Amino acid sequence: MSFLAPLANILRARRDLAGFLLGLQREQGDVARATVGNLRVHLLAHPDQVRDVLVTHQRAFTKGHVLQRAKILLGEGLLTSEGEFHLRQRRLVQPAFHRQRIAAYAQDMVDRAWITADRWWDGETVDMDHEMMQLTLAIVARTLFDADVDAEADEIGVALTEALHLFQTVFIPGMHLLDRLPLPHTRRFARARGRLDATIYRLIAERRAERARGKERGDLLSMMLSAQDAEGDGGSMTDEQLRDEAMTLFLAGHETTANALTWTWYLLSQHADVAGRLHDEVDRILGQRRATADDLASLSYTRMVLSESMRLYPPAYAIGRRALEDYPVPGIVIPRGALVVVSPLVTQRDARWFPDPARFDPERWTPEAQAARPKFSYFPFGGGTRMCIGDQFAWTEGMLVLATLAQRWRAELAAGQRVAMRPMITLRARYGMRLVLRERRQGSRGQGIEGSEGWRGGAVSSLPPPSDEQAAAGRLPFHPPIS
Ligand code: HEM
Repeated sequence: MSFLAPLANILRARRDLAGFLLGLQREQGDVARATVGNLRVHLLAHPDQVRDVLVTHQRAFTKGHVLQRAKILLGEGLLTSEGEFHLRQRRLVQPAFHRQRIAAYAQDMVDRAWITADRWWDGETVDMDHEMMQLTLAIVARTLFDADVDAEADEIGVALTEALHLFQTVFIPGMHLLDRLPLPHTRRFARARGRLDATIYRLIAERRAERARGKERGDLLSMMLSAQDAEGDGGSMTDEQLRDEAMTLFLAGHETTANALTWTWYLLSQHADVAGRLHDEVDRILGQRRATADDLASLSYTRMVLSESMRLYPPAYAIGRRALEDYPVPGIVIPRGALVVVSPLVTQRDARWFPDPARFDPERWTPEAQAARPKFSYFPFGGGTRMCIGDQFAWTEGMLVLATLAQRWRAELAAGQRVAMRPMITLRARYGMRLVLRERRQGSRGQGIEGSEGWRGGAVSSLPPPSDEQAAAGRLPFHPPIS
């Protein structure tokens, strides 16, 4: 290996992390190694190894360097905390994600999707990436804080963009030392974080005051506020812990689902046969009425489409761990301290588990086909004690939003739209995703939320394609997967 390889790998990984990871497996097999900057990275691709890292030997690992850095924004929230503290927090947050709670959030998800469906116009070109991000942000704000997020959306956008500058340098040795210096970008970040904190602490204080007056809301924040650790110390969360969990759920809970939906719209625009079957299903099950949580069990093709979309474009495309001890795998011993990566993108595009892996084929998700594959050949939500706490929330949201929008709309890729992955922290579309909307059925407009008819705020007509520079300067993809 040339002594320049670690530097070359930084450039390769920064330019195209997905291509870099796929290339490592192609060149080296199930256990692949590379030095990226000052990091020794081991990519484990076989489903058995994935299971061992995430579940069987999870105690041999901790989260890694990206999430260490993410603490400056997320504090000790679920994504970033470790050990006993993490388990206690997980017990406290879990009730807010109980099946019945998610069914209650379903109505907000459908209502918000209906507002979007009402706002679109036949023949309009929208950036679906932007549309889905706005929609999932509104949904998480409503379900987490019982709040309308529009007023705070700009603040969040600024905070995320500033955070991106910090995370972009994650492979460069020693860069984290700059985080504490009063440089322009760290000061901008601190200001943005301060504004976000002020908003969240205000909401916490309001909820505590309401509880003191005997008023209970059903939002996630109120659930976390009233949670008590019955299995452990019997205590509840401090304001600081609530702030960290709220910030974590807010950021982790929308970007990923938005990405999944954007890529699904793209795939549907390329596969008229699949789109046709999806439309048949939503017409048959929903007709023109609004979906509810009770419809989820019947929307089986919608689920298959989303499953297949997250196979090809898993939003959290790489999951990182740091080895706490020497860790033997076939052929080598991974040294203590090394970074171990298991990648849904790599394993889910492996022809051994998914023949003709590049083909978009929802039929791979019949119960029989699923049962024939190893469990960890598909793991978009991770596994073990660190598995995504929002997975059922995300399935519910993804399916209801997709079904609701597909009741009324189909989409075609806009002329000149380039499509490529932008694997930063989550798997985004490098050039956005401009799609031309086609209304499936005339006369359905205005059956949505009262007063929403004709509202077009935020819609983008006839968008020009973004330049490479614009694409490169895109917003922060959050939900750090390489930890
Ligand atoms: C398609 C959507 C989503 C995907 C693909 C996804 C994926 C993941 C993955 C892979 C992990 C594990 C990371 C690791 O092991 O290092 C994770 C963790 C997490 N996710 Fe998600 N997620 C999604 C949606 C959500 C939603 C909707 C929420 C909340 C509303 C959420 C909140 C979290 C939290 C809090 C964790 C940390 C859990 C813990 O360590 O205890 N995610 N997610």
